[in-house]
Amino acid sequence: MRVLVVDHPLVAHKLTVLRDKNTPSPVFRQLTEELVTLLAYEATREVRVEQVAIETPVTATTGTGLVKPTPLVVPILRAGLGMLEGMTRLLPTAEVGFLGMARNEETLEAITYAERLPDDLTGRQVYVLDPMLATGGTLIEAIRFLFDRGAADITCICLLAAPEGLAKLRAAHEGNNVHVVLASIDEGLNENAYIVPGLGDAGDRLYGVVD
Ligand code: URA
Repeated sequence: MRVLVVDHPLVAHKLTVLRDKNTPSPVFRQLTEELVTLLAYEATREVRVEQVAIETPVTATTGTGLVKPTPLVVPILRAGLGMLEGMTRLLPTAEVGFLGMARNEETLEAITYAERLPDDLTGRQVYVLDPMLATGGTLIEAIRFLFDRGAADITCICLLAAPEGLAKLRAAHEGNNVHVVLASIDEGLNENAYIVPGLGDAGDRLYGVVD
């Protein structure tokens, strides 16, 4: 498993505004999309391509095209949905599948409550969108699920991670073809498994509180 923290002043700036508790939902949503596009630029560095023949208005030449099967983007519901637009802006031909996962707030274990994905992911490059890598439970399960369906390699795009969650993810998927791209590794988790300093509940910040 490889981890990349994207070191760029615009990433740091947008993340700072996201962290601010006074940033309202519409701005939070807009900035999340912009930040994901910047992270996606790095995360797609190894997207599979091939040489293609084209004709410019001037001459014949060769260029670069994405190979089939096209990459699959999988936002983890609910908060990952806020990252989808920023990702597909960069990779508009990607297919999108959905995985609904939530953590049980008492046991902190991840449960899958919805799934809409191709049955066979053999050979597919998969990009998983989940803003907060906190305990790691959700991503560990999501990655297992996608490898079980045949995914070739999995890149997780997150806004933030806690070192504890990253360590658990590494222990679960060391040696697997997993790449994590994120904007920051924060200090740690508090007693409620929130990332500190973090940005709060990403789903609530994006979409408001739903009881
Ligand atoms: N999920 C969130 O939305 N925020 C955290 O800090 C941890 C998990």
